[in-house]
Amino acid sequence: MRAVVKLGGALFRREPNVTSLKGMGRALGGFVEDGNQLVLVAGGGENARTYIATARKLGGDESTCDLLGIQITRANAELVRLAIGSMASSKIPTTLSDLPHFVGSGKAVVMGGLQPGQSTNAVAALAAEITRAEILVNGTDVDGVYTEDPKKNPKAKLIRSVHVDKLLSWAMGGEVFAGRYELLDPLAIKIMQRARIPTRFVSLGDPGNIIAALQGKDIGTKVVYS
Ligand code: UTP
Repeated sequence: MRAVVKLGGALFRREPNVTSLKGMGRALGGFVEDGNQLVLVAGGGENARTYIATARKLGGDESTCDLLGIQITRANAELVRLAIGSMASSKIPTTLSDLPHFVGSGKAVVMGGLQPGQSTNAVAALAAEITRAEILVNGTDVDGVYTEDPKKNPKAKLIRSVHVDKLLSWAMGGEVFAGRYELLDPLAIKIMQRARIPTRFVSLGDPGNIIAALQGKDIGTKVVYS
């Protein structure tokens, strides 16, 4: 199977948790050992937001802040690469055009951001499109897509399947500032839509959730296209 997994910022705390990273690395390394093709995209998390906020206060423009965020996502990707160990490719691709060459190695390929003006969710969608992934699993800090932000409203309900048009209408109302791209930025959804990428949102809390989604189990929120 060909898969892409986005590892959201929740995995990368201010002080990264070695046990969580090892657990994730073991589970994903096992998936590759079973003969599957895997691209991982690391998010920026708390450190990206902290650096971006500091750069903005120092007068940095949004593109510079985005570039700083990209550097942090690549540092996070490096941690994931180390956590996977020998089943991970030794280098992090920094352009999309490099990616198809990397995936031929039989190892997990880990990457971070690519260019300003988008989030790592857009990177994950582009990676899924160019590697013809059969599934894109988006690991977040909640169990899937909710009717509202569950951290702001505890009455928010988990949606088990969501139409791509609905996601796009939500994303269009979101912000496009460095460090503040919403759950999904419009570019990410547009790419998912044009390539009709089978996508599922799950919680990163347990690596077993990611593996279950990769195995096609009905977990979290599924994106539907028709
Ligand atoms: P993320 O996409 O991880 O943003 O990249 P996020 O909102 O922190 O998402 P989580 O934490 O994964 O949930 C961090 C920042 O890096 C820049 C953006 O500024 C983004 O907010 N970035 C990332 C880019 O400019 N381009 C990219 O391709 C990726």
